[in-house]
Amino acid sequence: MARTFLLIFPILLLVTQCSADEDVVISISPKANPVQKPIGDQISLVCSVKGTSDEKPGMIWKKHDGLDRTGNVEIKKLDDYTLVLIIRNSSVDDSGVYYCHAQVGSKVYMNKMDVIVFEDIVFRDKQLHFGQVLATASVNISCEVSAKKDSVITYWTRHGKQVLDGGKYKFYNKGSILEIQNYQPEQDAGQYTCEVVHVSSGSSNTKTVTLGTAGEKNYVACHQMCNSFCSDINTRMFLNTASN
Ligand SMILES: *[C@@H]1O[C@H](CO)[C@@H](O)[C@H](O)[C@H]1NC(C)=O
Ligand SMILES: *[C@@H]1O[C@H](CO)[C@@H](O)[C@H](O)[C@H]1NC(C)=O
Repeated sequence: MARTFLLIFPILLLVTQCSADEDVVISISPKANPVQKPIGDQISLVCSVKGTSDEKPGMIWKKHDGLDRTGNVEIKKLDDYTLVLIIRNSSVDDSGVYYCHAQVGSKVYMNKMDVIVFEDIVFRDKQLHFGQVLATASVNISCEVSAKKDSVITYWTRHGKQVLDGGKYKFYNKGSILEIQNYQPEQDAGQYTCEVVHVSSGSSNTKTVTLGTAGEKNYVACHQMCNSFCSDINTRMFLNTASN
C-alpha cells in the first residue's frame, strides 16, 4: 500500500505540474519532524509555498497556545513565499506544535512542525562509589538535578527491581534522595540506579551509585543472580504446567 503510494506520488506530481493547474505545496524546513533542541538553542522553521504561479499567498505562523507566550518567538518574511519563525534562546515552554498557514485565493493550506525543547538533566552530586558503609548506619544517595524539582520524576531501581518508599527505604525531596536505613552490608551493598525524567520534554538521565566493598558487592550480586534464576525457573515451571 505504502509502496504503491510512493510509486504513484511522483507521477501525480508530474501530471499536475504539466497540466498547469495550481498545485500548491506548503512545506517546512528542516524536514525532520520533530525538531529537538536543548534549552537555549536557537530554532528556525522556514515555511515556504510553491506552485501559486503569480498569486501571492497570505502567510502566518500559529501555535496552539499562542506564539507570544514566552517572548522568544520572532517572525521574519524572507520573500512573498517564505515566512521564517525564529525561536531565540528557546525554553521548555517554547515546545509545542507550530502551524504554518498559507491562503491562496479562497483556499487555505497548512503544514505543521513539532518542536521539543529539552532541559539537560545534570546531577548535582557526582559521587558514584561509597565504599564501605558501616552496618546499621543510614546512608543517603542523591539524584538531585539542576532542573526544577517539580518538573522531574525520579525512579529508583536496584538490580532491575523498583525501589519503593517504605521499610528500610525513605525518600526525600520528591524522591530525589534515597535514604537506606539500618544498612546491612550482606543485603544492601551493590548498585542503586536512578532515572530522572523531565516530564514535559521526556528527556532523561540515569545514574548508578555503588555501595560497599568489592567483596560485599560480589556476595550480593551472586545472591541476586541465584534469586532471579530461581524465580525464572519457577515461572517457567508454572507456565508449562498451566499450558499443559
Ligand atoms: C535565555 O533565557 C534564560 C532563561 O529564560 C535567561 O536566564 C538568559 O539570560 C537568556 N539568555 C540570553 C542570551 O538571552
Ligand atoms: C538524608 O537527607 C535528608 C534530606 O536532606 C536528611 O533529612 C537526612 O538526615 C539525610 N540522612 C542521612 C543519613 O544523611
